[in-house]
Amino acid sequence: METGALDELREKEYPALATHTYLDFTAAGLYASSQITRHFEFLRQHLLGNPHSTNPSSSLATEYVARARTAVLRFFNASPDEWEVIFAGNASLALKLIGESYPFGPGDRFLLTFDNHNSVNGIREFARARGATATYVPVVLPEMRVDESDLSRNLETARSGGNNLFAYPAQSNFSGVQHPLEWIATAREQGWDVLLDAAAFTATNRLDLSRWKPDFVVQSFYKIFGYPTGIGCLIARKTALAKLQRPWFSGGTITVASVQGDRYYLAEGPSAFEDGTLDFLAMPAIEIGLQHIESIGMDAIHERVRHLTGYLLEKLLALKQTNGKPLVRLYGPPTTERRGGIVTFNFYGADGGAVDHRKVEELANKANISLRTGCFCNPGGGEVALGITGTELSSCFRQPEHEAHLTIDDFRLCIDGKSTGAVRVSLGMVSNTQDVDRFIEFAKGFIGA
Ligand SMILES: Cc1ncc(COP(=O)(O)O)c(C=O)c1O
Repeated sequence: METGALDELREKEYPALATHTYLDFTAAGLYASSQITRHFEFLRQHLLGNPHSTNPSSSLATEYVARARTAVLRFFNASPDEWEVIFAGNASLALKLIGESYPFGPGDRFLLTFDNHNSVNGIREFARARGATATYVPVVLPEMRVDESDLSRNLETARSGGNNLFAYPAQSNFSGVQHPLEWIATAREQGWDVLLDAAAFTATNRLDLSRWKPDFVVQSFYKIFGYPTGIGCLIARKTALAKLQRPWFSGGTITVASVQGDRYYLAEGPSAFEDGTLDFLAMPAIEIGLQHIESIGMDAIHERVRHLTGYLLEKLLALKQTNGKPLVRLYGPPTTERRGGIVTFNFYGADGGAVDHRKVEELANKANISLRTGCFCNPGGGEVALGITGTELSSCFRQPEHEAHLTIDDFRLCIDGKSTGAVRVSLGMVSNTQDVDRFIEFAKGFIGA
């Protein structure tokens, strides 16, 4: 597939990239100049008021919220008969909506992969507080995929007649692994509601909800098209949404609430889940952002990122330290098969030890390269990659001085010199060969170090 149009697009629409090597697309996508121009032009020409009324400015805002919902459904090929879009501040808040509303009860099950963002991990606290069990399925080195037989055994443990929630990321924000979407149907057939975290997936992959039917999907829009920040969504199947029980009511979520009558009635559909006033001025920018992606085409974006990821992997894995050993240790698949544009690794020095990821970040900053180091809010991925065991972690957390507080420096001391983080390079729709070449030159600086 021809992806050369993306080079022209970068030149014209992303001028800030002329002087910067941006390799942090999984943390945040970038916006095109035309997205902000179109949005500001719209705001200049229209009067938008708080949506919860029938006055003209309010009605216009309501109309544009509805247009944004329709645009999201269309983008994911999700029929409005089957799916609802609920706007939330970001993917994490969409996940919190599920955590606090899913009807976990004693004996119910929450199953999740080691490889998950903390905003999914955090749901275990809601589950356990209500007497459900939380169980993790490990990922296995070197590719950091789930052992399918292990997953099958765990999926067999759904509680008959109970509430069972299975959560996993469509793409790992740690290793770039794309976990099979086929799990959705398998898990649902065995009595699980499936929560698909699509936050690291949808910027470079098509998610067709007419084909894949999880119960809940979450994501943040800035990861797909950079602007605006502050809006994410939960896309839920209507039948699954009906199962959720909100723990409170607030402005915007009710039809009627009474002080003296001490009752409230939740609104129908998405409104019941959207607390307070939506970011209504930013809403038109969602439709603009989606149109921008559609004008380029997700297939072209996917192909561009796949190609560059292959190029990066090939170059990086070929580098050797002066002791003849590979310069990097990769955490994830070494080819482009069933993986996205996230490449995570540590550099190894001539003495055979890992180079501290903080040092790598410091040097990258000086070279005007934006990459990310640490565990990327994915502790399960980090623990597996870095070989930190459950026993080590428990003995660290059990120390009396760590009862209430644990700083990252205390944690480093605790796990006894093991590396506490890795280096992540992530590519996106307007990455180019030059970005990868610049990074490879930077990487060569660790040869002999
Ligand atoms: C896989 C995954 N899930 C969830 C999130 C949380 O997204 P947000 O911080 O926008 O809420 C991220 C963010 O990096 C992510 O990569």
